[in-house]
Amino acid sequence: MFSKEIYTARRKNLTKQVSGGLVFLPGNSDVPFNYPANTFTFRQDSSFLYFFGVKQPDIIGIIDVDSGEDYMFGNDVDIDDIIWMGEQPTMKEFAGKNGVKNAFPLSKVDEFIEKALKQGRKIHFLPAYRAQTKLLSEKLLGIPADEINNNVSEELIKAVVKLRSIKEPGEIEDIERTVDVAYEMHTTSMKSAIPGTKEQEIYGKIEGIALSHGGPVSFPIILSVNGQILHNHHHENILKAGQLMVTDAGAESPMHYCSDITRTTPVGGKFSQKQKEVYETVMNANFEVIKNTKPGIMYKDMHMLSAKVVAQGLKDIGLMKGDVDEAVANGAHALFYPHGLGHMMGMDVHDMEGLGENYVGYDETVQRSNQFGLAFLRMARKLEPGFVITVEPGIYFIPALIDIWKRENKLTDFINYQKLEEYRNFGGIRIEDDILITDKACRVLGKPIPKTVKEIEDLMRNQ
Ligand code: GLY
Ligand code: MN
Ligand code: MN
Repeated sequence: MFSKEIYTARRKNLTKQVSGGLVFLPGNSDVPFNYPANTFTFRQDSSFLYFFGVKQPDIIGIIDVDSGEDYMFGNDVDIDDIIWMGEQPTMKEFAGKNGVKNAFPLSKVDEFIEKALKQGRKIHFLPAYRAQTKLLSEKLLGIPADEINNNVSEELIKAVVKLRSIKEPGEIEDIERTVDVAYEMHTTSMKSAIPGTKEQEIYGKIEGIALSHGGPVSFPIILSVNGQILHNHHHENILKAGQLMVTDAGAESPMHYCSDITRTTPVGGKFSQKQKEVYETVMNANFEVIKNTKPGIMYKDMHMLSAKVVAQGLKDIGLMKGDVDEAVANGAHALFYPHGLGHMMGMDVHDMEGLGENYVGYDETVQRSNQFGLAFLRMARKLEPGFVITVEPGIYFIPALIDIWKRENKLTDFINYQKLEEYRNFGGIRIEDDILITDKACRVLGKPIPKTVKEIEDLMRNQ
């Protein structure tokens, strides 16, 4: 946990952003895996963690915006729990750690909320992403579970996004520590990319690294020689010399901050000339964005910059043609780069995505495009110091997509479909780093992870 002053200041800042009423912030409950007592690893809700810092299940936080009082409702463990789980801090002890003034048993929350409802007070709440939270909210607020997310407080969402978007020094340090865990995961993955190895073996090994540092992975690891499948969670292939292996993986810290890194490795340790050309195009896009990213610019413009570097590189290779600016304006690069440049990152790997992607990555100055590819950009708005975002351009050869575009004669002024046949089974390449927006520029977080062709080949050779 951070200090109680930090949690107290966050709750106070929240009350300044919300016009009145109560903020209702339920923490998460345990979720059964295959029978009630066999649960998934518990993960607290990130907004609850941000304002209350307590990791235990079944706690409800309430902030009274008008009086400034704060409350936690949760049960202390009894002797049966102690026998199975050991001693746990009491609610009062937790309150001592996060500065909350009022700690009550969970049974008291019903009457507390009932009273507020009777008084006609506004109760603000965030979108729920778990069924249990919806059911709890139904019971306490009297709104049908499937209507909960139609009654969320936009005012509260905007306030939480505003606060959580700017990372404090302690949060940045923690994120940086998890990037260092990702360093270990990714260098291990690179060294393991030996022909004959099963993807699953590497997957298990690097997930173990995250676990050994005290946290789970920050999202299910993507590790595949079929890197053209953007979020491939199938790990059954046996690596063959000459393939490219995409590893997109990060760790979560014990404080629940994330890393999200992607590297692409040549199985057997050496890029072919053809692979090197495409790889360096993606790498140049990643470098160009990092060189130009600073506060005050729109991240959408950085996405467009990365698209132009990708289109220019593919034109040099002979896969694209025509005017690069025009090609990008028409979305031709999206055949190869059909996703956005990056997203916010924090306690959620796609930070605050559950609150609504448009609140996090867009605002009144920038609306989501409906052009294929650009429409998937998660983060488009103006950057501010303290934002932590990912930079993750890629180039993919997706046979099914190529076939559709070719059949439709789509953007033939910009795409060389004939040459593309030679790349049909190429796979995919993504390179992803996590950056902090500083006062004047940006900084790549964590210990530098091998990225250039030489750095990767050297690491794989010298093991
Ligand atoms: N790890 C998923 C992503 O890069 O967004
Ligand atoms: Mn990733
Ligand atoms: Mn990412």
